[in-house]
Amino acid sequence: MTQANGEDKALSSHGASSDEVVGAGSGAGSGSGSGAPSDGGEELVFASLDDPHLQPAARNPQRMEKVIAVSLVIGIIGFAGLGAAYWQGATEGVMGLFLAVGLFGMGFGLAAWGKYLMPQGPFVEERHDLAGTRREQEAFEAAALGRGQMVIARRGFLGKLLGAGAAIFAIVAAFPLLRSLGPLPGKSLDRTSWRKGSRVVTVDGRPVKATDLEVGGILTVFPEGHEGSAMAQTVLIRVASAPVVTMPGRETWSPDGYLAYSKICTHAGCPVGLYEEQSQQLLCPCHQSLFDVLDGAVPVFGPAPRPLPQLPLMVDSAGYLRAQSDFNQPVGPGFWERS
Ligand code: FES
Repeated sequence: MTQANGEDKALSSHGASSDEVVGAGSGAGSGSGSGAPSDGGEELVFASLDDPHLQPAARNPQRMEKVIAVSLVIGIIGFAGLGAAYWQGATEGVMGLFLAVGLFGMGFGLAAWGKYLMPQGPFVEERHDLAGTRREQEAFEAAALGRGQMVIARRGFLGKLLGAGAAIFAIVAAFPLLRSLGPLPGKSLDRTSWRKGSRVVTVDGRPVKATDLEVGGILTVFPEGHEGSAMAQTVLIRVASAPVVTMPGRETWSPDGYLAYSKICTHAGCPVGLYEEQSQQLLCPCHQSLFDVLDGAVPVFGPAPRPLPQLPLMVDSAGYLRAQSDFNQPVGPGFWERS
């Protein structure tokens, strides 16, 4: 490697001082000190602090370093201000101003660092045999590593400021991402608006009496006051004129032969609304899951992984259907899945 003015000292053969990066053979890439000669007893010097290649362009590097530090600090303040403004719900204009200050401070600092404090060259590589010898390759690696370490090590403070700015920007940039996830659902997905004593009503709010459906009839119903609720929508089926027990422990859940199941398919959430009286099955039209109405709505065909949750019913003194409680399981598909 040769500098244009002919002062090529990157690979020179004089002895190394303490400011020089020297290496070849096993000493390559050590970054400091002197290495043993690799072959022929000749010691190679790859870089030194006096090397013209490593001199910054600034006439007063110390002063430029302070300017860059101030610029990076301004950038950090800008990013921190952006985070605070976002946190406080400030206007887009205010957040944009802080973002501009942060980007300008960081950008100016980085550009000035590269322009004024990094080695400037020019560097000219003369034409030579394309394939280098092993020794030349080792020398090149050592020179590249050594110079990089020296240049970066000289600017440790600026490097820390730059890292701090990048870290703050990364944290602030994560705010909108986290906020876009919305509030935590808490227990809201585990329950519906059915409660103990909720009156069973149609979608237009009409209370359902125990005498309203013939055997084989089906109706979509909701808890009173929550008509149209997607989570609470329920299929009400009258399968007989007398109570039916679908599972042990559910002896009192089906007064006068009424069964009530969640209308949300446990596969992917489609409405399960097709009732086949002869086979006593409910069909989900999306992927053809079949649920056995008389057996606790367990799936007997299709991809649905678990039964439709059942709503315990009762009849009040006025003959209206009411819920004994919420569904026996969380409704719908997804993380609610359980055995
Ligand atoms: S959503 Fe019901 S079977 Fe797929």
